[in-house]
Amino acid sequence: MTKQIRTVLVTGAARGLGAVVARRFHDAGYQVALGDIVIEEAQALARELSTDGSSAFALKLDVTAKADFAAARDTLLERWGSIDVLVNNAGASKVVPVMEITAEQFEQVINVNLRSVLYGCQVFGQYFAHRGAGRIVNIASLAGQNGGSATGAHYAAAKGGAITLTKVFARDLAAYGVTVNAISPGPLDLPVVHESVPADKLEQIIAGIPVGKLGSATYIADIAVLLACAEAGFANGACWDVNGGLYMR
Ligand SMILES: NC(=O)c1ccc[n+]([C@@H]2O[C@H](COP(=O)([O-])OP(=O)(O)OC[C@H]3O[C@@H](n4cnc5c(N)ncnc54)[C@H](O)[C@@H]3O)[C@@H](O)[C@H]2O)c1
Repeated sequence: MTKQIRTVLVTGAARGLGAVVARRFHDAGYQVALGDIVIEEAQALARELSTDGSSAFALKLDVTAKADFAAARDTLLERWGSIDVLVNNAGASKVVPVMEITAEQFEQVINVNLRSVLYGCQVFGQYFAHRGAGRIVNIASLAGQNGGSATGAHYAAAKGGAITLTKVFARDLAAYGVTVNAISPGPLDLPVVHESVPADKLEQIIAGIPVGKLGSATYIADIAVLLACAEAGFANGACWDVNGGLYMR
């Protein structure tokens, strides 16, 4: 019997952690759809993974729009016939002191980091439930657990909400063979961290991490692949902490 190829949609896959996750799923034998608003970079990575587009392609997906998730689901179904995994990875923040966050800034950050999780889980959760199988992995953050505001209080609030939504959807979908889990990384060794944090500040941050180093994006991707596998059905509603010992519970 030939083994069925599994299929995943990774949001925010043009760069950073999403790109690493997409690559890792592809290495693991998945067909991978790379959703992002930065379509050119997503397309370049998709071409690198699969020159003929048979096992990877990019699609324009703004995670703040529910209709984009629905369109992505339809495109994947048309192209590959079924979908097994959604990784809600897209995220963004602009650091502003908590007392100065404007309503507009709050809304923007909530939309990209939290509304996205709601929409992704609604659209794909419904499809997975109908199908009787599926895996959703939400990329949260240590900030959502410890209230750390180094990346913005609105970001921390959104990520805390994403962890809670993970539990809500995990309960709701469990009976249909669908699991929903979160991964909650501390600061990772990724371009966005080096670009957005001044070198001396980053040194201070690293000195404050018990293991004395930034986290590996590849390891986060490995966990996502692990949570997505068929055997992972007993992991549900969990939040996988990967923070170098910064936060223990
Ligand atoms: N970098 C870290 O140290 C770290 C730590 C904890 C959690 N995270 C989380 O990991 C995820 C990835 O972060 P990253 O560090 O790779 O950031 P990044 O900025 O490098 O990448 C984010 C990606 O999301 C995409 N994106 C932004 N808004 C979007 C939208 N509306 N629709 C679709 N795509 C959109 C961007 O184009 C980009 O490709 C985020 O959820 C982030 O909160 C990162």
